[in-house]
Amino acid sequence: MWAQSSITGRLSLRERERVCLSHTLTTLTHTSHTHTHTHIHILSHHILSSLSSTWIFIAVDRGIHIEFGLIWRHLLDRAVPVYHVYRMLVKTTFCRLVIVWIFVNIFDKVCSFTMFSGYRITAARYFSCRQPSFALKTEGKAGVSTVIQKQTPKMEDIVNLCKKKGFVHQSSEIYGSITGFYDYGPLGVELKNNIKKMWWRDMVQRRGDVVGLDCSIISSPDVWRASGHVSSFADPMVDCKKSKMRYRADTVFWAALYREDGTSGPDSDASSTSENIKSSGHGDPVCYVSVLESANMLETATALAQKKAKALGEPKNARYKPLQLTDLASAPEDVYAHIPSPATGEAGQLTAPRDFNLMFQTKVGALTDDSAVAYLRPESAQGIFTNFLSVQKTSRMKIPFGIAHIGKAFRNEITPRNFIFRSREFEQMELEYFIPPGEEEWKKFHQQWLERSWEWLCSIGVDKSLMGYYEHGTENRAKLAHYAKACTDITFAFPFGQQELMGVAARGDFDIAQHAKHSGKNCEYFDEASNSKYIPHVIEPSFGVERVFLALLTSAYKVEEIDKSDGKADKRIVLALHPSIAPIKMGVFPLVSNNPKLVAYAQKLHTFFSQQYNCEYDAAGSIGKRYRRADESGTPFCATIDYETLKDGTVTVRNRDSMQSSRMNTQQLKAFLSLEIDGF
Ligand code: GAP
Repeated sequence: MWAQSSITGRLSLRERERVCLSHTLTTLTHTSHTHTHTHIHILSHHILSSLSSTWIFIAVDRGIHIEFGLIWRHLLDRAVPVYHVYRMLVKTTFCRLVIVWIFVNIFDKVCSFTMFSGYRITAARYFSCRQPSFALKTEGKAGVSTVIQKQTPKMEDIVNLCKKKGFVHQSSEIYGSITGFYDYGPLGVELKNNIKKMWWRDMVQRRGDVVGLDCSIISSPDVWRASGHVSSFADPMVDCKKSKMRYRADTVFWAALYREDGTSGPDSDASSTSENIKSSGHGDPVCYVSVLESANMLETATALAQKKAKALGEPKNARYKPLQLTDLASAPEDVYAHIPSPATGEAGQLTAPRDFNLMFQTKVGALTDDSAVAYLRPESAQGIFTNFLSVQKTSRMKIPFGIAHIGKAFRNEITPRNFIFRSREFEQMELEYFIPPGEEEWKKFHQQWLERSWEWLCSIGVDKSLMGYYEHGTENRAKLAHYAKACTDITFAFPFGQQELMGVAARGDFDIAQHAKHSGKNCEYFDEASNSKYIPHVIEPSFGVERVFLALLTSAYKVEEIDKSDGKADKRIVLALHPSIAPIKMGVFPLVSNNPKLVAYAQKLHTFFSQQYNCEYDAAGSIGKRYRRADESGTPFCATIDYETLKDGTVTVRNRDSMQSSRMNTQQLKAFLSLEIDGF
């Protein structure tokens, strides 16, 4: 019986690796020569000795990128182009094979030194994070799958899929929704939990220098006075006096429209303009326009400006200079009165920018006066700072060390927008890494955490080709958060533009020093090594769970056209989520739903694997339809129980990305899932 054999016949690590590798290599023998980016992850140096020379040759001769460990990432990232040169230079296959053997053996020696601690496992998962692969062999006999939508999906594609499949929807929908708040359905909550689980595992459990903490959402209001949030956690906002709409000043963009030939426009109101405009070398503007920030705001503003110019009697063939959009927060005072409200299009309706505190207030206890005011935390970090010394003492950590926290944060955002990207209730995964003071000391830790954060995002499936960096304060230091010495964001090309995904800030000793001052408590750390006391400095990598969620969906979403063997074209939406992140790890299907033996076997297999993974039993509709449903949910593997299963206990395991199937018994499937999902 499958269940019994899988429990009694446990596979050794080496055997499990062999099962998975031989599965991968079997798949690769069907791979066309164009698939040069397939990755094989090698978990231990033992595996090399268990490979036959034929397999090594097949893998390497097809330009497959063999990965050995995190340390070699940068080197091996360049391996594929180097290999092509190598193929050109070494013409005979025998010579190539000999050279590859030498190369592999040298790497094996080096790798045995680096294969300790969590790196080996993390490296394996890092490298198993394939870019959505092109199909190797489709379900039809001679089918080929073509990715027809590889570019960033549109926002509405993501939102529709989220709603259709039960990932995310607006909160309180039956009452017409509440802006800036979201509920997560069965798939969404699994995906969110997996993000948090992976972060905790990689940032806390697999590191010896980080411990965890969980703090209350409401703390003493003194915490927020000391941290500067009561006085400084504000965004500049403007109101439209007519429509009563409120906007964040840096999300409203304005521009003046000028004639190309430098002559002045006809609008007497616009032409009464400022010295700023006059000194810019243009004639008087034809008109002003304003738009809200969006990916296509320049096109919107241009269309608006042309319409306005026409209404002002400008000739049809008039030519204009390209619009220069600038945010309202930096608009010169004397131009302000000319900028129209984005709500009404009328000038003179916008108030001057005023600071608006983003913290949600509540009242604690029976009293309703000001003494009862408390705040919902706008960042989880302050709980770490106020607990710093007690955690350090109880866990006996020595600097440098970190404290990690995952929890909800609340901000009364003036303009929540772009789905879950900017919401009023969200979750943060924050880590404060305490380091010795010093003007230069923090830079190396800041760089390390930037690299670690980047690698982690890639390891869970965020598409690195869509990621970038943004260093705050290079043009204007005043734009840095009130606590930060420096801050670099990792950005992501969301469907609405390149925006902050997470940030790594150097907070200096600002927070702990403030808490020491306001509480009157000594918050100094005693450093035994240097026999000195000091307030440590801090590096803070801070991730928003929802932004990682959205970046993962954007990276994973694709539409593929499949030619089936019957010649009919088919289309599938697939979420190529990494197996460790996918909400459902495996679909379990009986081939037909009216055969009691197949159904019973499938249900048993489902129950067995559900002990460890979130699996889905599906018996409705054709196998093809069940695969499509699983593809849309991001389920990486589907096991189908058929008549052969009843004879030999093997099931067909179908891979979501390659659409390849292979047969495995329960033991092999268990080992396979463990390696693919958990990385070991
Ligand atoms: N403790 C530092 C801090 O809170 P932040 O840049 O304001 O810094 C950190 O926020 C991260 O939290 C951001 O990079 C983003 O991922 C997430 N975040 C911030 N505001 C958010 C919002 N309104 N909705 C969703 N995520 C948000």
